Amino acid sequence: MQDLRIGVVGLGLRANLADAAHHPGAGSVVAAVADTDPAVRAGVADRFPGAVAVDDYRKLLDDDTVDALVVATPDDTHEAVACDILRAGKPVYVEKPLGITVEQCDTILRTAYETGTRLYVGHNMRHMGVVRLMRDIIARGDIGEPKTVWVRHFVSYGGDYYFKDWHADRTRTTGLLLQKAAHDIDVVHWLANGYTSRVNAMGDLMVYGDLPRREPGTPRPDGWLREFDWPPATRKDLNHVVDVEDVSVMNMRLDNGVIAAYQQCHFSPDYFRNYTVIGTEGRLENFGDRPGDEVKVWNTGPTGYRADADAVYKVPESKGSHGGSDERIIGEFCRFVRDGGVTDTSPVAARMSVAAGVMATQSLRDGGAPYDVPPLDPELIAYFESGQRRDAAPAPAPR
Ligand SMILES: NC(=O)c1ccc[n+]([C@@H]2O[C@H](COP(=O)([O-])OP(=O)(O)OC[C@H]3O[C@@H](n4cnc5c(N)ncnc54)[C@H](O)[C@@H]3O)[C@@H](O)[C@H]2O)c1
Repeated sequence: MQDLRIGVVGLGLRANLADAAHHPGAGSVVAAVADTDPAVRAGVADRFPGAVAVDDYRKLLDDDTVDALVVATPDDTHEAVACDILRAGKPVYVEKPLGITVEQCDTILRTAYETGTRLYVGHNMRHMGVVRLMRDIIARGDIGEPKTVWVRHFVSYGGDYYFKDWHADRTRTTGLLLQKAAHDIDVVHWLANGYTSRVNAMGDLMVYGDLPRREPGTPRPDGWLREFDWPPATRKDLNHVVDVEDVSVMNMRLDNGVIAAYQQCHFSPDYFRNYTVIGTEGRLENFGDRPGDEVKVWNTGPTGYRADADAVYKVPESKGSHGGSDERIIGEFCRFVRDGGVTDTSPVAARMSVAAGVMATQSLRDGGAPYDVPPLDPELIAYFESGQRRDAAPAPAPR
């Protein structure tokens, strides 16, 4: 099997995804990088020997030596970049979130439908061991039918990763309830087997609104990453615009009746996601979200709290970034480029997670008023759920 030759558009902090795609002789190789930043282009030859570096991704669209493209540019650029690539007929991987508005997502899905070009969306949490373990437990029926899902998301490094660059500007992201939560909303949908139909939310900018900011146009300073200044209010050099919330709480009603809640805080001392799923016959909860951490299940009857639980499962060991999920998601993308078909990630689900995040953001900026999530065109749902084949009869796909 020849290596799939991948072009990467945007080689910033998310460069570990490109690393996961670079395995010469073992299935895929980074053959080209397009990045607008000359300093990034200067480092391409060392990182990916033999790869070309260009300043404009459009230079790769007619390049026959590039089989597929991975888009890892800032969220507000995804629609324009992805649609150009789809129109050029090259299979494309778009990092999450798919877009920053419902309209952007729908335009990408419709362009993929009309061109027939393969579209893949990078929700790598679907390939994380802890998520797959929880999904397996639910699928076995160990907690009965899932009815409610609660997620607490503690983002210790939020002040560094999300308030020192474009993430902090709502014109570039809409808000962190979309930007950061799109992953977890998607996981809630996947675990509960439904899509959010109605939301309300509350949120505020509590800690990072009044801290020292950089002048517009000045780069992120050396050492900005993983400073973990403590307490959080000692952070400085924030983005020149900071108008997204650093605390948010969102309620969801899913189309199958499940009720879910998601809470995010960017000044917590620790980083982790804590999921609880309660079904008609039990409850599960994860204690940590990395390989070796535990998911516990209680399902033998009402008692007081029992730390030993009824069953304890370990998240499988795995190497690589994001708990090994980056290697696995690139593997699935390469398989999809070669063979097509249904995948564990889903463009429809990616759109539905953005739509829930957008409407929740609207709600929290409107005093917590409830909003309905706009439905997706059934023609597009049928196309994507049948594995992106226009001639195929719609078949149900895993969400
Ligand atoms: N799935 C995950 O776990 C995960 C994690 C982090 C980031 N992300 C996503 O990855 C994407 C990139 O995030 P990041 O943190 O690396 O951002 P970043 O700002 O660090 O890097 C973006 C890179 O894109 C380049 N760029 C910007 N516009 C461009 C354009 N039009 N053409 C070519 N290059 C362009 C910039 O020069 C920069 O090098 C975002 O969509 C983000 O949400 C996903």
